Amino acid sequence: MPNPTTLPAWQALQAHHAEISKTHLRDLFAADPTRGTTLTAEAAGLYLDFSKNRITAETIQLLVQLANESNLRGRTEAMFTGEKINTTENRAVLHTALRAPKTAQIVVDNHNVVPDVHAVLDAMSAFAIKVRSGQWLGHTGKPIKNVINIGIGGSDLGPVMAYEALKHYSARHLHFYYVSNVDGTDLAEAVLGLDPAETLCIVSSKTFTTIETMTNASSARQWLLATLKDPAAVAKHFVAVSTNAAEVSKFGIDTANMFGFWDWVGGRYSMDSAIGLSTMLAIGPDNFRAMLNGFHEMDEHFRTAPYDQNLPALMGLLGLWYTNFFGAHTQAVLPYEQYLKRFPAYLQQLTMESNGKYIQLDGERVNYDTGVIYWGEPGTNGQHSFYQLIHQGTRLIPCDFLFFAKSLNPNGRHQDILIANVLAQAEALAFGKPDSPEPHRVFEGNRPSNMLVADQLDPATLGKLVALYEHAVFTQGIIWNIDSFDQWGVELGKVLANKIVPELESETEPALNHDSSTNNLIRRYRAARR
Ligand code: F6P
Repeated sequence: MPNPTTLPAWQALQAHHAEISKTHLRDLFAADPTRGTTLTAEAAGLYLDFSKNRITAETIQLLVQLANESNLRGRTEAMFTGEKINTTENRAVLHTALRAPKTAQIVVDNHNVVPDVHAVLDAMSAFAIKVRSGQWLGHTGKPIKNVINIGIGGSDLGPVMAYEALKHYSARHLHFYYVSNVDGTDLAEAVLGLDPAETLCIVSSKTFTTIETMTNASSARQWLLATLKDPAAVAKHFVAVSTNAAEVSKFGIDTANMFGFWDWVGGRYSMDSAIGLSTMLAIGPDNFRAMLNGFHEMDEHFRTAPYDQNLPALMGLLGLWYTNFFGAHTQAVLPYEQYLKRFPAYLQQLTMESNGKYIQLDGERVNYDTGVIYWGEPGTNGQHSFYQLIHQGTRLIPCDFLFFAKSLNPNGRHQDILIANVLAQAEALAFGKPDSPEPHRVFEGNRPSNMLVADQLDPATLGKLVALYEHAVFTQGIIWNIDSFDQWGVELGKVLANKIVPELESETEPALNHDSSTNNLIRRYRAARR
């Protein structure tokens, strides 16, 4: 694949940027009164208003040309049909197979993976029904009341985000906890006051070797056995979600209580695999399948819709427009929906672990920026915290606003006030307030945003939203010519930590051969801990 800066569309975009970058959104709106209805797209029940971006119709046409010159369509087909597009790990990338209908055929290494996906879904459903109905009994004969998901990264962020997002649909007689940090506080606070006899631990780890998860899982087992005494209790209180059956049974979990997935599912793309077991326990199998159908609807839209009407492609291309042509570094994601409070944190892994790369597919270093930094908080809270900088700071921060027309908890004027705020923020950012005599009261405006709107937050809509961002990230990764599906950048820290652990734990003073700062900090820690 070519370096994108050599493509004709990239060069045309550079020239186009020089022409329009100073144009104010006020002028763009004044010149075309239909802009607010024409620069929009709608698919699968999601409405995207992208009119408050610093673009013209020509920008969209050039961005679409860039997608075409980068062979986005061909690369999308390669992903959906199981080609090994994760080249540094020689793996297919098939999270889209996790939500494919039973009748689909997706072949990897001469094997149709769709029946395997549905067999795991059926096993998860049977298990979820037993736990939710109280038929699954703990070691002492009590039904399960508490579920603890133990995992980190993609084995935590997706499940906890989905649980929070879909709490409204969850079984309220079950209580869910998410333990990820190896900091002992995380597990200690989660289990505080819980009865092990009523608690189910789901150990979620693709590799089943991640030190944080395995340490937490071992400590959770000790906590359980301290009360239940009998090692046979583990079978009733521990299940595993993993691709690594050998490590699961080494840990002492019967592989009959393991829900599998495959190496072609990346951690940050796994919330709709068995990694979503806690989600299914919370919302039930039917709602989980509705979520998968939502994912699939967005997959099909991305795969087939023309790019000037294609929600994920448009959002990916707009993000790239600001990153590579305006020099923006970050993107705020601002859901006006309290249930989506963990959505920005989820997107951070999805976007940054995927596209935070400086090596192109051919091994050359990039000579352009990649990897948008995502961050955000639900509205209206963020308005009283960091929006000041977005309105009057010196940096350009494109925003994705999200809202739902209907509240899941309607209460008097709350929803109208909430929605008035999201509309007002986007309006203020775009148009500002240029005419104050006092400089500090001037709002320059010309700050871009997308507005994503849906009817109501439900499992299907959550699936559509996540798939939308997955494919927006993919769109950017293809154009940036990087492997969005590996994560070598997390390896070095793991290796160094494994070297330092015995140096912290050794009884005798260890010989240290790090740099002088690390050596000194190790000595100080050892002394302070004593
Ligand atoms: O260290 C990064 C990472 O590999 C993520 O990509 C992944 O989601 C996380 O660790 C957890 O990995 P696992 O599910 O194998 O425990």
